[in-house]
Amino acid sequence: MKGIVLAGGSGTRLHPITQAVSKQLLPLYDKPMVYHPLSVLMLAGIREILVISTPEDLPRFERLLGTGEQFGLSLTYAPQPRPNGIAEAFVIGADHIGDDPVALILGDNLFHGPDFSPLLRRKASEVDGCVLFGHAVDEPSRYGVAELDDDGRLVSIEEKPAVPRSDLAVTGLYFYANDVVDLAKNLTPSARGELEITDVNAAYVERGTAELVRLGRGFAWLDTGTPDSLLEAARYVQVLEHRTGVRIGCLEEVALRMGFIDADACRRLGERMGGSPYGAYVRAVAGDHPNTNPGRPERPAPDSARTSRPGPS
Ligand code: DAU
Repeated sequence: MKGIVLAGGSGTRLHPITQAVSKQLLPLYDKPMVYHPLSVLMLAGIREILVISTPEDLPRFERLLGTGEQFGLSLTYAPQPRPNGIAEAFVIGADHIGDDPVALILGDNLFHGPDFSPLLRRKASEVDGCVLFGHAVDEPSRYGVAELDDDGRLVSIEEKPAVPRSDLAVTGLYFYANDVVDLAKNLTPSARGELEITDVNAAYVERGTAELVRLGRGFAWLDTGTPDSLLEAARYVQVLEHRTGVRIGCLEEVALRMGFIDADACRRLGERMGGSPYGAYVRAVAGDHPNTNPGRPERPAPDSARTSRPGPS
């Protein structure tokens, strides 16, 4: 399965913060926002990933993430000149997708929850049509909203309905069979001029090949479209990392635990980050990993101990 991170858009709801830099490059406490969606694709076992952003921002993503080789990934980049809709990702990414199924994740979505990687890997291997991930929210009318029947089957999806049929939001993580490329190419832009992801999903619902996986109460799903939600997401990361000593969305750690890189490579990545607590954490993760060369474990400095103890992924 190929992956796409869609990290474009105009970010107008965050102006002036996003006037000179892309929203998805803003920090969520200790790391750029885009680390979170990228880590989700990695946890699904996906290693060939296309990053789509505006022509102005794309070089900044490239500077941050490079070829992806350091994480055992192959990262490529493509511009989206105008925010013509989320589903345009499949048109822009058609060559990247080739004949494979594809996972799309929005660059401003943060997921965190138990046993996420096995769930993602299982669903990625089963996709026949589309697999969507739903989460209950307080204000469903801000999102795509899914309606399920009594047997948990998906019966309808509406984009930002004034009167939502449920409280179940469709999150910004989507798995599709390869036919999504043709479907997207044949979409008609909506009244607001966008190729709507909800129209893609509704087509699969109509065909009876759409599945919605409900992420339960133990899962956190946050987006970052407003100043408040941006701050809340950063606080969530901070509180969780302080409390547990485990970092979330740490690409080096995910790459190591997924077996994409070995402990020595992970340690070298930590060393490149000099004295930052994040770098110390990466070095400690590498030091504690079973395939580390004996005699090389490194412990973080005591002043960063609160956020630097490695733990299970
Ligand atoms: O976050 C989940 C929600 O994302 C879903 O529930 C909705 O069904 C889906 O339409 C979307 O809603 P948003 O209101 O969040 O969409 P927005 O236009 O804000 O775009 C989401 C992200 O995708 C945002 O970070 C910008 C990026 N984007 C968006 C468009 C339309 C692009 O990179 N290119 C685009 O053309």
